[in-house]
Amino acid sequence: MDEPIIRLDGVTTTYEGAAHPVIHDIDLSIGRGEFVIVGGPNGAGKTTLLETIAGLLPVVSGTVSVCGFDAVRQGPQMRKKLGYVIQNFDFDPYTPFTVDEVLLMGRYGLLGFCKRPGAEDFAAVERSLERMGITDLRTSHIGKLSGGQQQKVLIAHNLVKKPDVLLLDEPFSNLDLATREHVCDVLCGIADAGVTVVIVSHAFDALPARDVRVVVMKDGGIVLNNVIPPEQVQDTVRRTSEETHA
Ligand SMILES: Nc1ncnc2c1ncn2[C@@H]1O[C@H](COP(=O)(O)OP(=O)(O)OP(=O)(O)O)[C@@H](O)[C@H]1O
Ligand SMILES: [Mg+2]
Repeated sequence: MDEPIIRLDGVTTTYEGAAHPVIHDIDLSIGRGEFVIVGGPNGAGKTTLLETIAGLLPVVSGTVSVCGFDAVRQGPQMRKKLGYVIQNFDFDPYTPFTVDEVLLMGRYGLLGFCKRPGAEDFAAVERSLERMGITDLRTSHIGKLSGGQQQKVLIAHNLVKKPDVLLLDEPFSNLDLATREHVCDVLCGIADAGVTVVIVSHAFDALPARDVRVVVMKDGGIVLNNVIPPEQVQDTVRRTSEETHA
């Protein structure tokens, strides 16, 4: 593998005020353009792993490097290269932003200091609306959309950022099967274009037609990390989770 785009060496992280570290001694290397699925039971540490990669948690020991930046010391620079669709979002129904505006905000990290968005930014918004099939929602207020529609808007917001690494925490949880397949195709397309896609998921009915790296977590550790064909993903995650449950 070329120099990994995500690299964790002996990483232990905790939440502020938590009695014990939540994930411990994590070693993980992920290459550019890989499609990664992170599985494992509830409470295993999957969300914590994504928050660690995004540089959002105190690192007790070890090093986290993403896109060549140290996630602790260079968090703001690193996060410009990173998209992150969080697991639990909860918009106030009166959130005063339309879908268009939420997508345009995704461009702010790419604008120069005091620069206003230009034609290229509006075109990127247009493309993402189309890609996610939400053009008809563009003038709707985000707080007034359904959970699945909000999830699509959040994914589109992260696509316009043009990230090098895209983290998605259970992005399929509110989506119907046809939409899951469509979103999976979109994510596969950006991975083919060189973006590293890391998805935490319990749903394995929408998978890309290419090998995926499967990472299974249990009790804050990684118990499996293999590149396998898509048709083996569901069984592999189930079997590994059950074996390690016993
Ligand atoms: N803010 C927090 N403060 C303290 N502990 C936390 C916090 N968030 C999560 N934890 C603990 O960290 C552990 C791992 O949680 P995490 O959310 O990473 O699990 P998960 O694998 O994403 O689970 P799920 O599939 O339910 O989303 C759990 O034991 C949880 O109680
Ligand atoms: Mg989680």
